[in-house]
Amino acid sequence: MIDRLTKDRIMDAARIEEVIGEFVTLKRSGANYIGLCPFHPDNHPSMSVSTTRQIFKCFSCGHSGNVVSFLMDHEHISYPEALKYLARKYGIEVTEKEETPEETAQRMRSDSLMIVTEAAQKFFQDVLWDASQSNLIGLSYFRQRGFTDETIRRFGLGYAPEGYDKFTRYAQEHGYSEEYLVETGLCVKHDDGRLSDRFYGRVMFPIYSLSGRVIAFGGRIMSSEKKLAKYINSPESLIYSKSRSTLYGLFQAKNAIARQEKCIMVEGYADVISMHQRGIENVVASSGTALTEGHINLVKRFTNRITFIYDSDPAGIKASLRGIDMVLEAGMEVKVVQLPDGDDPDSFAQAHEKAEIEEYIASHEQDFVSFKIAILSQDIAPNDIYARTQMINEIVQTVSVIPDEITRNVYIEKIAGMFDLQQDSLFSRISRLRKQRREQKLSRQNLSENEARNQQPPQVIQEQEQAAELSAPRAKTTENTFLDVCERELVEMLIKWGEYTLHWESNMLYGAEQIPEVSVSEFIRSSLENDELEFSNPLYKKIYDEYFRLDPGSDPDCEVRQGSIIKYYTFHDDPAVVQLVTELLSESHPLTIKAFNDSVTREEDRLSRDVPRAVLQYQSRVVRLRQTAIQKEIAAAEKDGDQARRNDLVRTLIQLNQIRSQLDKELKKY
Ligand code: CTP
Ligand code: MN
Repeated sequence: MIDRLTKDRIMDAARIEEVIGEFVTLKRSGANYIGLCPFHPDNHPSMSVSTTRQIFKCFSCGHSGNVVSFLMDHEHISYPEALKYLARKYGIEVTEKEETPEETAQRMRSDSLMIVTEAAQKFFQDVLWDASQSNLIGLSYFRQRGFTDETIRRFGLGYAPEGYDKFTRYAQEHGYSEEYLVETGLCVKHDDGRLSDRFYGRVMFPIYSLSGRVIAFGGRIMSSEKKLAKYINSPESLIYSKSRSTLYGLFQAKNAIARQEKCIMVEGYADVISMHQRGIENVVASSGTALTEGHINLVKRFTNRITFIYDSDPAGIKASLRGIDMVLEAGMEVKVVQLPDGDDPDSFAQAHEKAEIEEYIASHEQDFVSFKIAILSQDIAPNDIYARTQMINEIVQTVSVIPDEITRNVYIEKIAGMFDLQQDSLFSRISRLRKQRREQKLSRQNLSENEARNQQPPQVIQEQEQAAELSAPRAKTTENTFLDVCERELVEMLIKWGEYTLHWESNMLYGAEQIPEVSVSEFIRSSLENDELEFSNPLYKKIYDEYFRLDPGSDPDCEVRQGSIIKYYTFHDDPAVVQLVTELLSESHPLTIKAFNDSVTREEDRLSRDVPRAVLQYQSRVVRLRQTAIQKEIAAAEKDGDQARRNDLVRTLIQLNQIRSQLDKELKKY
């Protein structure tokens, strides 16, 4: 951990234009610089680097951030690594902050485990290349599979010799502790206390972490003997989680994935290696396990597009189908390539040149609708209407998980065209499916809330309902989206104008009372506190909560104080905060009548209107959400025949109605 002071020194010294200038040719443009955006294929310079704000923003792909996030995203390094990079560049000495004892213990333990796995990797690799020991069995196996020596080295491949304890003896002679040998799974402990090798007589594929450290192994037998498992893998440990942390080949592939904005997903180790050897480097493998959300999030750090190339046997196809919905649900773009019968990516890559493979992929990439239709319609008789309907339903079901409405609509059009259907019927089916899922989510949640409710006094319950309505159902209903917009606007005002004073014009009263002049942040805080409101979006809540703990200094000039707040958020530790704040700071108003009016009024002068308006809109939205929730409860109470509860709820609803019309009346003034 790098301490706060050092971090501040680094941030003060670093000039974003100098750092980005090392990777991208920047041209001066007024106070800013512009250059080709390295985060998407860019022909015209669309990335702007602000020297005053010390942020960058691409106006084409939307990527934005500070100097640290630029390095993290461009070089795929971690936050501390980026800081250390800057410290080196600007000659600042880094003192690391003390960790908690638990953190130290964890880090040391992971480190010790990785020292063991890395020693093992070296051992297996040395054996592979050491002619005197193994008659080059492992090496000739790899060569015979078509791997070049360069490839074999690049992937750190090795050979675990026969004999049950060769590695164990080596490790013990070199003083590696039994505890770590067992936890990494390299050694197996027997009842009599003796250790032996987990891997023997197998060629070894080391599995690397994202930062290139060896964390586990897959070992393959070299025969096709059916009695033995083809692959044995390291067990899960502190450093290795199959479902969460690892996609085979990601370390070697990540730069190519980001550059080409696409990740090719295959099944096996050999598939990755053969494709890579042919120069197709953006390839990773799920290593035969079902794709998990963890895997998808890993890929999402580098690109939004995944192409599956699985074997065209039934197992491979099933694996692709399973992966599709999950990737779509993550808001990513999915394509599928089917290889010629009998080929897998390994054999295909071995048999073709790079250009041929690329050409094959380009011309056989199907979007998931076409792929599903191709697969599912295989066994449907031409006039089996029932089966056809089922197939369409299944495809529509998949479309319904896509979060983005526009993308959904594109697919609906496509399906309607292919099957000669009315788009309307597909739209309504999809919105039904989405509604069902939302309700299932809600009722699952209510169920668990009901259990807790039975043991609590009514006062607490009401508060919980409000809190739950505000924070829990994060399914994106339109209502929630509006709430999000309102919250975002308030956060924007805090960050840009929080320290400025509101100057009330004499005819602008807030509510019935004349209120004293206060800062924007105080105004927002007191309004929210009065109504006991909290932001439902956790990111906004975090920014909001931190705001009121910050010390912006005592300089009377509000611009100076605001400057130190902006700096705090622009260089925040949390990349999500940096992302949001740099977006807010570089947002330009769309060209509307409003924008025209805005451009003739100084932004500062509009605060006394805009801030109360934003607060009122937010309050009104919250009330509306509560009403929706209460209406649902009324319906439930009616169903249960609970007349008393129903009447209570109706009274609350009426009160809320009054509050809302009051708020809406206020709003009209702005
Ligand atoms: N796998 C595994 N354990 C097995 C079989 C497979 O962990 N018993 C994983 C491996 O990561 C393997 C992947 O699933 O790479 C795909 O399996 P498969 O297609 O059977 O292996 P290939 O990669 O094709 O292996 P090879 O080409 O060496 O036969
Ligand atoms: Mn294979």
